[in-house]
Amino acid sequence: MRVPSLRTTTPTTVRPSPGSQVAADPLLAFDRAHLWHPYDSATTPGPVWRVESASGVRLRLADGTEVIDGMSSWWCAIHGYRHPVLDAAARDQLARMSHVMFGGLTHESAIMLAADLLELVTDRAGRPAFDHVFFADSGSVAVEVALKMAIQYQAGRGRPRSRILALRGGYHGDTLGAMSVCDPVEGMHRLFAGGLPQQVFAPCPPSGLGADIAEWTAVTSRLVAEHADQLAAIIVEPVLQGAGGMHVYPPACLRVLRELADAFGLLLVFDEIATGFGRTGEFFALHHADVVPDICCVGKALTGGYLTLAAVLCSAEVAAGVSASEAEVLMHGPTFMANPLACAIARANLGLLREGKWREQVAGIQQRLACGLEPCRGLPGVRDVRVLGAVGVVQLTKPVDVPAVTRAVLRRGVWLRPFRDLVYTMPPYICTDDDIDAITAAIRAAVAEVAQVAEVGE
Ligand SMILES: Cc1ncc(COP(=O)(O)O)c(C=O)c1O
Repeated sequence: MRVPSLRTTTPTTVRPSPGSQVAADPLLAFDRAHLWHPYDSATTPGPVWRVESASGVRLRLADGTEVIDGMSSWWCAIHGYRHPVLDAAARDQLARMSHVMFGGLTHESAIMLAADLLELVTDRAGRPAFDHVFFADSGSVAVEVALKMAIQYQAGRGRPRSRILALRGGYHGDTLGAMSVCDPVEGMHRLFAGGLPQQVFAPCPPSGLGADIAEWTAVTSRLVAEHADQLAAIIVEPVLQGAGGMHVYPPACLRVLRELADAFGLLLVFDEIATGFGRTGEFFALHHADVVPDICCVGKALTGGYLTLAAVLCSAEVAAGVSASEAEVLMHGPTFMANPLACAIARANLGLLREGKWREQVAGIQQRLACGLEPCRGLPGVRDVRVLGAVGVVQLTKPVDVPAVTRAVLRRGVWLRPFRDLVYTMPPYICTDDDIDAITAAIRAAVAEVAQVAEVGE
């Protein structure tokens, strides 16, 4: 290892990180001086904590403390860390090959994973919903592929349409095409708006599974009708908008979008990257409604949080339309497409999910999160509390002081990564009741603590 002895003296621009281990830890000092973290500044970085190892639902930090990972590593590690079945799948695949190109070659892990996905991603009645699988290396890339598929499909059907209808409040990734379908005003990519394809945005659906959608339906129907001759597809995160605001909306909206797509010759794309594999209490969020899209993106929990991998599933009709386009082939082919190591682990992950324990686990977590977070509603500075499946959200009235909340929950043995005005958890499904209670207790205490500090400061 290149020992970061480092010519690095921490740059003067680096903010001191109160309570962090930077001074005592040369690796952390190197990190602060040279590494760029997600959504962070390279010159004035926020604090980071160094993880030594992880096991079950716990992260072991460099100072020896262990904390429950209430984030499942950004919603992926649904079975926790160092799961023996997933570890074994990785070792077994490593012994054969870790990677081989997918252009002109294929391999068992990709073939069997595709077969498993086509069997498992079904309609609500359990009937197969898709015919083809395209593997991508991340969620954002899967969204890019889905958008390209939709545009090529329309071209193949003699309709040169390239705009996409998306929802306000949505989030679909950080690459340019995916950014163009994120909320253009409230979303994190608004700075880039001028350089992105100009999409059409329907209003954010009303909040709550059973909300009245009459007005939303009227506005959205009008928008689709007005722009139909330019629109290739509609893309949404079904039922739960994640990184755009942890917003739960009525499944009935999905039925409206299906009808509109059918009426105007648009493809319907579901981005199940965050919601897939049980997170919302149904195996896929599309099962909350009896609606099947034309294209479906899955990722995140696909490998149980071990490696980056995503997949785009589509119907035979979509594949036929793409083939009828001038290019005849789908113009996409990443270097690490269908990486065998990732595919092998994903297969093992789907095997664990097939055992079916996830349903009881997620239902139990939902109940426990609801009990544990409901008292937050009475705390000062809290706007809303909502729970869906293994997702628990406390929305504040102001932006969260992220370092303050992070430290407050870490002191209570829990790792969380709040954003915007949201303190939330998406824990691993294998959390025990005690783990969930520890997470909700930490959230309650942290929210109360930051509210108190804010009041004193005002
Ligand atoms: C709904 C949704 N789509 C796409 C993405 C992008 O996935 P990735 O971070 O793997 O690129 C995310 C990530 O949070 C997501 O929540």
